[in-house]
Amino acid sequence: MMKSIGYYNGRIEPLEQLMIPALDRAVYFGDGCYEAVYLINGVLFGLEEHLDRFYNSCRLLKLPFHLDRQALKAELQKVIEAVEPDFAGMLYWQASRGTDYRNHAFPPPEVKPNLLMFARPAALDPIHPKPLKLISLEDTRFLHCNIKTINLLPSVMANQEAHARGCDEAVLHRGSRVTEGSHSNILILQNGTLRTPPADELILPGITRKHLLALAGEHGIPTSEQPFSMVELMNADEILVTSSGALCSPVCEVDGIPVGGKDPDTLAVLQKAYADKFLRETKQI
Ligand code: PDD
Repeated sequence: MMKSIGYYNGRIEPLEQLMIPALDRAVYFGDGCYEAVYLINGVLFGLEEHLDRFYNSCRLLKLPFHLDRQALKAELQKVIEAVEPDFAGMLYWQASRGTDYRNHAFPPPEVKPNLLMFARPAALDPIHPKPLKLISLEDTRFLHCNIKTINLLPSVMANQEAHARGCDEAVLHRGSRVTEGSHSNILILQNGTLRTPPADELILPGITRKHLLALAGEHGIPTSEQPFSMVELMNADEILVTSSGALCSPVCEVDGIPVGGKDPDTLAVLQKAYADKFLRETKQI
């Protein structure tokens, strides 16, 4: 049993020792896509939805991933079996377009994709998520944000900027239109409605976002997937940040200005519904 597990094309090692070839196209082109899923009690939370999104990313990138759903699940299971029984943390996997000399055009068909995975412990408190402080930044990413590609440099720059300014996350906007966080989705509560930008090419269709929209529906909270502005965000009754690594956290500040806190009851309904779903499906209750 190891604390952090690394996996590369079937080989399992302690993560810190894992080596991969320099000619993996992930290294010099970021030519691949990934998923990050929370693993606890041997359960990958929301796995089927993550698999759907992963195969969709492969399709959009024309990446001929060679393992079908069952075969990929079997590889994920090998990592689950290699971690300690009380492991709780993120399981990350990425597929790249194989190993070959650097060439912008795709490699020949005999070059198979590479599968890299790692599992690292990470705490997650679904019941008392910490209110987050955000900064706002112009979204300078490309127009394929719906693909979960490993090309994340603008997101890295934005998140670092947030940390440099003593905050947790950056909320990105194109002009006045809010898109998403650097590694999360953004939702707001406005007059009792849960609003989030539409799942177009400007955002990643987050699994946590999807779960939260469904739970809102089940609890009689109206939902809307129409664009909204930074002004609407700043004036929202509540702001929520969602991701697999942090689930669903409220926001208390954007650019140093206090925000949200005006609809704690609806927020509490959503948070409780989310925590219950998470704890139930991961066999914690
Ligand atoms: N990031 N938007 C972006 C740009 C993201 O990178 C993520 C997740 C999300 C939320 O998606 P989900 O609810 O499916 O996790 C939205 C992961 C956690 C990461 O890069 O580590």
